[in-house]
Amino acid sequence: MVKQMLKEKVLASFNKQIVPLDELTISVNDRAYLFGDGVYEVLRVYKSRPFLLVEHMNRLARSLSAIGISGVGSLTADILSIISLNHIDEGMVYVQISRGTAPRVHSFHNLSLQPNILMYAKPFYEHPAAMDAKTGINAITHEDIRWGRCDIKSIGLLANCLAQSKAHQIGAQEAILIRENNVTEGSSSNVFIVKNKIIKTPPLSQHILPGTRRQFLINALSEHGYQVEEDNITKDELLLADEVFITSSIKEAIAVIKVDQHPINNQNLGPVAKHARALILQASLNS
Ligand code: PDD
Repeated sequence: MVKQMLKEKVLASFNKQIVPLDELTISVNDRAYLFGDGVYEVLRVYKSRPFLLVEHMNRLARSLSAIGISGVGSLTADILSIISLNHIDEGMVYVQISRGTAPRVHSFHNLSLQPNILMYAKPFYEHPAAMDAKTGINAITHEDIRWGRCDIKSIGLLANCLAQSKAHQIGAQEAILIRENNVTEGSSSNVFIVKNKIIKTPPLSQHILPGTRRQFLINALSEHGYQVEEDNITKDELLLADEVFITSSIKEAIAVIKVDQHPINNQNLGPVAKHARALILQASLNS
């Protein structure tokens, strides 16, 4: 509690105004609030530097363009500045852009809107993935009930929240989503399996987010001599895999040691998951 009170206030930027995050007020007519009409990014900061910044910015530009939000220039300087204002050594940055503020009507056709740009940076006092990386996690499978454009990093994450909450409710840490008997991704991560030394991850499509760590690992693991395939993974392949691991900016690469009631790799961390995490951590030091 005392430690909590001594922690500094998180500073946020809203349309370039710097305000303590817990004092920031935003109109209820922001379309993010009314419609979930916006997109976001989560970046991991190592040693005060945002890792894979260019990849995150490219994906943000792609998300914005996919939903027709224009007029957002480069955010790189603002991101570096919010990291520095918050004195972040290890931490994360959240960036959210909504279409703008207007009285509630569904169509934005003919509305002249200014995007609202929110960002804040928070320190990590403990490494957020350290414990999971040590023990591995349990996952459940869950029907993927999301919309048809999961490649857009939309702030509309209700189905993801429902799936992850279901996992937590029954003592697991992640929900692996299944669409028509194939794995798509985790509720907030991408999924890899290893079978007979071949690494597989679902191919890019409108059903998954093109994860920055996913692409980083496809390249890095291939460079280290692994055979990596972007191919469909059936639910049975998932349950019978030699290894399963999930990836994200915050979780890095985490071994999944049980899916539903099926132990994976005798509930031990697998060598590929360990190597994948080491590759991310190694690269983060050199970024
Ligand atoms: N989410 N798929 C989904 C649905 C995600 O929400 C995320 C990350 C990923 C992994 O993407 P990346 O490797 O670029 O972090 C895949 C972030 C961390 C979040 O919503 O908090």
